[in-house]
Amino acid sequence: MPGLRGPSDYSQEPPRHPSLKVNSKEPFNAEPHRAALLSYITPIDFFYKRNHGPIPVVDDIERYNVSIGGLVEKPLEISMFEIRRLPKYNVVATLQCAGNRRTEMSKARTVKGVGWDVSAIGNAIWGGAKLADVLELVGISKYSSFSAPGGKHVEFVSIDKCKEENGGPYKASISLRQAANPEADVLLAYEMNGEILSRDHGYPLRVIVPGVIGARSVKWLDHINIIEDECQGFFMQKDYKMFPPSVNWDNINWLTRKAQMDFPVQCAICSLEDVDVVNQVKATIAGYAVSGGGRGIERVDISLDGGKTWLEAERYQRRNIPYQSDDMNNDKWAWVLFKATVDIPENAVIIAKAVDTAANVQPEKVDAIWNLRGILNTSWHKVQVRRASPGMNSNL
Ligand code: MTE
Repeated sequence: MPGLRGPSDYSQEPPRHPSLKVNSKEPFNAEPHRAALLSYITPIDFFYKRNHGPIPVVDDIERYNVSIGGLVEKPLEISMFEIRRLPKYNVVATLQCAGNRRTEMSKARTVKGVGWDVSAIGNAIWGGAKLADVLELVGISKYSSFSAPGGKHVEFVSIDKCKEENGGPYKASISLRQAANPEADVLLAYEMNGEILSRDHGYPLRVIVPGVIGARSVKWLDHINIIEDECQGFFMQKDYKMFPPSVNWDNINWLTRKAQMDFPVQCAICSLEDVDVVNQVKATIAGYAVSGGGRGIERVDISLDGGKTWLEAERYQRRNIPYQSDDMNNDKWAWVLFKATVDIPENAVIIAKAVDTAANVQPEKVDAIWNLRGILNTSWHKVQVRRASPGMNSNL
């Protein structure tokens, strides 16, 4: 690709905020501390970074363009300038890595993958062109499920060099039905929180597929292929699939499962660490709740006694405006923050669980959803707290 290149080593990585918790240095995978997730829009510096290779470099933005080919009637090369001239949309959407909360799952039984606490997730305002508008330029009408020459999937190919792809680029696909549906809000994004995308997050152009695991939101877009079957890349075929607890590395058959798309209902407490001490009797339990596929959050339940009794937390997207899950003005792809001010018992296991608008509820135990790759840990989120006795320092 003219203008954009994927280095084969890590000598040209961008600077990062020193407070990030680095889970792997090369490739760079890091998440913020929990408290960074208590604001509705996650600041760019604190937005988790999930990479599979060195960060690409833009040598010449004037020469950068995206080619769209494959099963289309009118293949096209479109420059950044032309993409910016298309109608611009700002979509507030939560991006969540399928591996979020993997560390906790690995405590039940070993799993393979980068460890993450509860912060492999963030909520941002993504600015860019709708993929549905771009596809019209190659002859694919809005709301169609296939292209005239028989394409049913839209593949996004990057430029980064990933070892899982034997040094080839990261790639993924979504159905053409989703891609050509303007209401699915799939974006070719060039802005994040009103700023030009940073290198870590996909500069100059990335895909944002709202409501779907982060793995499909391909960064550093190089080209788009309209194809008959879904993308055959590693991350679609041999990763990011949800297996039952009975499957292990000896009996796994990747073909038996589909590539994971929507993420399930999830929530986490971000105002406390896993094991924490609070100084006062009254404390605020706060965090995020989110569901995939554009489903809203119907409820967040909090328990202070290990799940025997529950109280309902307050929900909001914008401060001081209570959230109603059926309000048309909600950011449907975005998380909902919750908070509840409670009296903390002497020793307590505090639990949060969310319910989405389809009445899907988070499962109680991780064992029921354990899977060998450690993805989609949505079990009840628990923290253990102790009230500080007078004169005691906080944090165990
Ligand atoms: N795109 C490319 N080209 N390379 C990658 O390694 N990682 C994917 C996705 N897109 C990835 C990619 C995964 S697994 C996730 S969770 C998100 O990007 C993370 O996006 P972020 O780093 O902007 O938070």
